[in-house]
Amino acid sequence: MSEPLLKIQNVKKIFKVGFSNVIAVNDVSFNIEKHDSVSIVGESGSGKTTLANLILGIEEPTAGTILYNDKKINFNDKGLRKKIQFVQQNPLSSLNPKKTIYQTLELPLKIHNICPREDVKSKIIELLRYVDLDQSYLERHPYSLSGGQRQRISVARALACEPEIIIFDEPTSALDVLIQLKILNLLAEIKEKLNLTYIFITHDLAVVRNISDKTIVMNKGNIVEMNDTQKVFESPKQEYTKELIRSIPTITDEEEAAKP
Ligand SMILES: Nc1ncnc2c1ncn2[C@@H]1O[C@H](COP(=O)(O)OP(=O)(O)O)[C@@H](O)[C@H]1O
Ligand SMILES: [Mg+2]
Repeated sequence: MSEPLLKIQNVKKIFKVGFSNVIAVNDVSFNIEKHDSVSIVGESGSGKTTLANLILGIEEPTAGTILYNDKKINFNDKGLRKKIQFVQQNPLSSLNPKKTIYQTLELPLKIHNICPREDVKSKIIELLRYVDLDQSYLERHPYSLSGGQRQRISVARALACEPEIIIFDEPTSALDVLIQLKILNLLAEIKEKLNLTYIFITHDLAVVRNISDKTIVMNKGNIVEMNDTQKVFESPKQEYTKELIRSIPTITDEEEAAKP
């Protein structure tokens, strides 16, 4: 067995709020192997986004360590930072409204010296192709795109850095269900093409079931259950997980047909 790509070891994150402490993540440990697709689920406030920020190096753990290829995560390490990319929930707030799609995708290529200047345009077109868009989008601005198209641009921007891991924080929760499924299909396709590792942060178990092989269930900063996604759905061990599964909306035939 090869070494895990990501090792999260006894990680704890405490925020000071006024005079009190909020334990956002409480002594969490797990590994992520290369090419895994892992979902981290749990109700709002269970510590999912904090965990993502810790993995991205945006936040520092109060205790414990996070290792990527056996190297400690450090946001100031540019080479390491490009390897773990982030796609946020709301592309309208994460995309610069003043920038064209070309400019949006050009920036990470320049920052990380991904390709020589003369190849930038063809690289951008290639990125658009990955997310099923063509060069007619180059001069458009985020406001002129649909929610699904904007999220595709966010994905293309993450891909521009040639990452090994992409963390998605509620990537489709702002989209309607059919567009959600299209995006999830696309993400699954891209993962295979580029041999990526995915971490999905979501409170939506329907998303989890569609895309991830492994599921981590969080409650109040703790991991309460961790297993293959299929096992979590077939035989959930914890009452909390059962509750989450019960709260999944029923799926229509149309949605069923659109699944990967
Ligand atoms: N920067 C912060 N300062 C203070 N408390 C925070 C901060 N970020 C998150 N928290 C608290 O940590 C807990 C977990 O939050 P979060 O990680 O955002 O959960 P989730 O993404 O699962 O909804 C919550 O109680 C939240 O209020
Ligand atoms: Mg969150």
